[in-house]
Amino acid sequence: MKDVHWFPGHMARAKKLISENLKKIDVVIEVLDARAPRASGNPLLKTLCASKPRLKLLNKDDLADPKATLLWADDFTSQEDVLPLRVSASSGKGIDVIPRSCRYLCTKQKLRRPVRALIVGIPNVGKSTIINTLSGKRKAEAAATPGLTRELRRIPVSGKIELFDTPGLLWHKFENSTTGIILAALGAVKESILPVEEVSGRVLLYLARIYPDRLQNCYRIDELADSEHELLDSVGRSRGCLAQGAQVDVMRTCQMLLKDLREGRLGPISLEWPHRRGWD
Ligand code: G4P
Repeated sequence: MKDVHWFPGHMARAKKLISENLKKIDVVIEVLDARAPRASGNPLLKTLCASKPRLKLLNKDDLADPKATLLWADDFTSQEDVLPLRVSASSGKGIDVIPRSCRYLCTKQKLRRPVRALIVGIPNVGKSTIINTLSGKRKAEAAATPGLTRELRRIPVSGKIELFDTPGLLWHKFENSTTGIILAALGAVKESILPVEEVSGRVLLYLARIYPDRLQNCYRIDELADSEHELLDSVGRSRGCLAQGAQVDVMRTCQMLLKDLREGRLGPISLEWPHRRGWD
């Protein structure tokens, strides 16, 4: 797969905005997709925000494999100044814990004002849903806080925290091709960026290795084949995605598979584990 580049201009702007304003920020809230906390995190944040405590929200907890999420939470807890929190923004689960978790992360500072939290996340990870739930959909305004540029949106939340929203945080290049595949599978990058057949094929191989029973039950497949092509064929036939001449309609099958995955029809599934890849 060729390297996939994401709008470098946006990234450079977001990076500049974060580094210019970081001094005034107490805590960084990083919204991650619980199904792929590594791929959905921006590696740049680690260095950019190294001096700040970080609340890592494992969002879409309802769609992730609880076993994997527990391992991720343990992994993050072992990192200094990092607190993981499992949330499900669409149902509101865990969202009310965010303000006090931010305060907890700033205990040492003994702040006498609301905690200033910068919220970051890649597209489609659920950042807007979290912001809307936290703010009760109160209208965001340009930051009027001294020292913070007006490019950051200030979102009124509560007496406990002040939330500052950054523009979509994208990075200019994926760390590796699997990261790109995982993000495409979760719908975080446009389908036009990566060939849908490649994404679906890799996802099927991963599912066959890590979740064979789910794959078999969901698509009523008696025996899983070894190759992407044959797996896709079984899925297409099981779902009646046929083109002329009883051939499987590959494109439609790929799109249906990814939709099933994103909407949780295969059950709660994680695409990443702290110490197990499953992709190679
Ligand atoms: P963003 O700002 O980071 O780009 O993401 P946004 O909040 O727009 O959420 C992207 C999609 O993810 C939305 O679905 C949203 O409902 C869904 N979502 C967010 N949090 C959760 C969660 O915890 N669990 C589940 N299952 N879904 C979640 P959509 O289909 O794009 O929009 P909509 O039809 O729900 O409005």
